[in-house]
Amino acid sequence: MQEVITAQYYIDLEDQHGAHNYHPLPVVLSRGEGVYVWDVEGKRYFDFLSAYSAVNQGHSHPKIVKALTDQAQVLALTSRAFHNNVLGEFEKYATSLFGYDKLLPMNTGAEGVETAIKLCRKWAYTVKGVEENKAVILVACGNFHGRTTTIVSFSCDPSSYGGFGPYTPGFRTVAYNDLNGLEEALKDKNVAAFMVEPIQGEAGVFVPDDGYLKGAYELCKKNNVLFVADEIQTGLARTGKMLCCDHEDVRPDVLILGKALSGGLYPVSAVLCDDEIMLSIKPGEHGSTYGGNPLGCRVAIAALEVLVEEKLAENAERLGKILRDELRAIDTDLISLVRGKGLLNAIVINHKDPKAAWKLCLKLRDNGLLAKPTHGDKIRFAPPLVMTEEQLMECVEIIRKTIEEFTV
Ligand SMILES: Cc1ncc(COP(=O)(O)O)c(C=O)c1O
Repeated sequence: MQEVITAQYYIDLEDQHGAHNYHPLPVVLSRGEGVYVWDVEGKRYFDFLSAYSAVNQGHSHPKIVKALTDQAQVLALTSRAFHNNVLGEFEKYATSLFGYDKLLPMNTGAEGVETAIKLCRKWAYTVKGVEENKAVILVACGNFHGRTTTIVSFSCDPSSYGGFGPYTPGFRTVAYNDLNGLEEALKDKNVAAFMVEPIQGEAGVFVPDDGYLKGAYELCKKNNVLFVADEIQTGLARTGKMLCCDHEDVRPDVLILGKALSGGLYPVSAVLCDDEIMLSIKPGEHGSTYGGNPLGCRVAIAALEVLVEEKLAENAERLGKILRDELRAIDTDLISLVRGKGLLNAIVINHKDPKAAWKLCLKLRDNGLLAKPTHGDKIRFAPPLVMTEEQLMECVEIIRKTIEEFTV
């Protein structure tokens, strides 16, 4: 008789042999296509998290898969000790798409953020004239920029920074969505940059007031400070525009991209800015073994082309409005707030049981939709942007039914 391998087997395997640095929903996935994922038992789900917005183009998009497999058979990695024939093409495509002089490729989002920090500091010393080792970077409370020791040094979330000190100096926190606080902090002449998420994703899709990004950008300009947008989660069509900053016609001085830059197939991140900033870093001063490799570059070009060709920003904008309207129309006390932009949305759960959001996600899973709570009482709803209206309405029905049946 053939032995049946259950989901529990894989969960136990990870539990026994892997680090316990995540707390996943108990579901074991083995396949994905478009807006769907399947578990090891063959059950199909709508993916309402999209790998934290890395699979905006949908799972295993055929064009990106083809780019990956074609390039993998020709040349995958050379290191930056030599030139390769794809990097320049990627840099040209992305800089003209986003309107910057130059691009610096890395792999993960956190590396993109670290790169931006280094660029801002170098610019401060070599261009702005800040005294060596005195540069300050302002960040917003509630931020999530990644997990390196420097990045967690300026987190306000004890589960990110607690127990990982000593912390990297040179950062100061201001309140998010507070232009007065920012203006005050900008009085320090050593401030090199203000780094901000246009919507705070991990904090629970916290959308700032209209005009905040524009106001922050203008304050930065007035004070000769770089405005740095971490669009790793909000960028690449997720919020209904190519960049979330586009909603307010803000062009960041430094733009950080990641996640969907490779459509979920390969880690690719990048920092874009103009020569005055980018050329402050000289040969040998920054880099990464895999950053700019032909495989990643080919994948990134395809991933960006898919966003443009399939008009995914427009789809996100249109479906996002429908989703929020439908969620707000559900007659329930369980949801205290629905917020978001495009297809980056969250509901805030109102229940005396602090585990209610987690329990609701378990029920959504049972009903065929995968989502995960963030910060306890918030559930992010961020499906792949290739979703159709019909599929979205099916998801709305699953959410409505699950909420109506929900009892703790
Ligand atoms: C806004 C933002 N910045 C940075 C990161 C870090 O990216 P990575 O996990 O690829 O290092 C994330 C990840 O969720 C993010 O949402």
